[in-house]
Amino acid sequence: MFEEFFDLTATPFTNSIPSDKLYMSPIMRETLGRLKFAVSHRMFAVVTSDVGCGKTTTIRKFTNDLDRKNYEILYIANSKLSPSWFYKGMLKQLGVEPKFYRDAASRQLHRELEIIRGVQHRDVVCIVDEAHLLSKETFEEIRFLLNSKMDSENPMSLILVGQNELWDKLKLQSYAAVRQRIDIKCEIPQYDRAETARYIECHLKYAACTREIFTEKAIDEIYRYSAGAARAINKVCLNSLICAAQRKEKLVDDYLVVEVIDGELP
Ligand SMILES: Nc1ncnc2c1ncn2[C@@H]1O[C@H](COP(=O)(O)OP(=O)(O)OP(=O)(O)O)[C@@H](O)[C@H]1O
Ligand SMILES: [Mg+2]
Repeated sequence: MFEEFFDLTATPFTNSIPSDKLYMSPIMRETLGRLKFAVSHRMFAVVTSDVGCGKTTTIRKFTNDLDRKNYEILYIANSKLSPSWFYKGMLKQLGVEPKFYRDAASRQLHRELEIIRGVQHRDVVCIVDEAHLLSKETFEEIRFLLNSKMDSENPMSLILVGQNELWDKLKLQSYAAVRQRIDIKCEIPQYDRAETARYIECHLKYAACTREIFTEKAIDEIYRYSAGAARAINKVCLNSLICAAQRKEKLVDDYLVVEVIDGELP
């Protein structure tokens, strides 16, 4: 157990890190602020990044911080959904048995949204993760969903979250009607070298590590391999810690990191 060897109280570099211990980069802070603004004005927001750069984690932090007294959150992660499954997925999360036909399910959803707004005085926030996988048909349905009251007001906030190709798709002429309805756009870039070091420090601090484990040169190699993407940083750091503990080495240097990258990682 490398945790014991390094005197760690938790396992760093996994996605079990609690949302109040996350590395709060300036971009993450800004994204959270924009999303807060979007939901307080019932807007349509899109969050994109390259693979493994922290989109779902940012959403996890965002929803954890939202006051459930005021917001009903629907989270849909299976984006290969057809339009009718999209409606059904939302209705099920609202605790309503969906009607069979798409139009009936759509009317049912609109009714539920009105009850939640008008009677419960709460707002619905629908988050669609992995949205780059959505079919064109489902994008069209989203457009109609946001269009329900002749554009006077959105019936709910909608946040589409996906890899960069989501934005590439939305830039196409055939998606113009959806694209024009986007109010807030957030792009999460990879970390730079300095942020990669701070990210590593943050995970180690969460595990109550009080001393240096990764040398500066080791961090250079981690950055080179990961290009500053959080999941790739996690992978190389975790594997390096396991390898160092097996060899009873308390310091992870660049040689060890390169060996791990060349030998154990794809
Ligand atoms: N700010 C952060 N602080 C700590 N850990 C983070 C942070 N951002 C991301 N991570 C970690 O990095 C990993 C990848 O993050 P996440 O799953 O959010 O990326 P993603 O952009 O949603 O990936 P994908 O493109 O595959 O959907 C997770 O293990 C997560 O815990
Ligand atoms: Mg994700």
